[in-house]
Amino acid sequence: MRIGIFDSGLGGLTAVRELEIHNPNAGYVYFGDTARVPYGTKGKDVISRYAVQDSRFLLSKSVDAIVVACCTVSATCLPLLESTFRIPFFGVVEPAVRAAVKTASAKNGRIAVLGTSATIKSGAFEKGIKRLAPSISVTSIPCPLLVPLVENGHIAEDDRLSNIAVSEYVSSISKQKPDAVILGCTHYPLLAGIISKYLPDSELINCSAVTIAEVLAGNKIDDGKKEFYVSDDPSQFSTTAKMFLRREITDSIEQTDIEKL
Ligand code: DGL
Repeated sequence: MRIGIFDSGLGGLTAVRELEIHNPNAGYVYFGDTARVPYGTKGKDVISRYAVQDSRFLLSKSVDAIVVACCTVSATCLPLLESTFRIPFFGVVEPAVRAAVKTASAKNGRIAVLGTSATIKSGAFEKGIKRLAPSISVTSIPCPLLVPLVENGHIAEDDRLSNIAVSEYVSSISKQKPDAVILGCTHYPLLAGIISKYLPDSELINCSAVTIAEVLAGNKIDDGKKEFYVSDDPSQFSTTAKMFLRREITDSIEQTDIEKL
């Protein structure tokens, strides 16, 4: 299977990283919508239009399945993508829900969700959790500043700005000691070190990691070329992408006009 992966920008590279950890030779086509990031502050109609264009672009590269490595898209319009296109889509919400419910069910039944404003507004994580385990308590916190902080490289554990933002966002749940905290945005694993400082007793659920683990358990990804496409300047992408992939990108990165599709 030839796989496509997309996100609003760089966050989906946390899924690429997981894929490379498990299967270094895997081929894939990555699209980062760097000209239109962030999606998480936008409304459902705009996010849906972008997600359809992103998927259409990946299909033009002959992929057999798409990993929607963006919680915002997975939470707001995955059913639309599934009904518009005839290939399998793997969203990142349901695998994270399953992992968090497993952890919380074995402990005190408490889950917290951190996400973009659009993701939290959609209620997708909460609904998924309640469907699987109605008695689990869920607290959801929109964290709109975290995507720009990550995109601008504020990921060091002692970074002042990110520490202030994270500690503010999680202050209301630190006393509840949630058993599992869903990092409900594929950018957030880069802030895991900071988040766990303020929530030391919680297991952090990385949506990208649990989704790729499920995809690999049920599918065979072909070895092959790694292709990167972005909608804004590729040179900027390659500089920042290093911190997500923890390697240089030596593969080609091309710019595409996504609005055309
Ligand atoms: N990585 C995206 C997500 O998982 C970021 C959303 C955004 O662009 O705001 O939600």
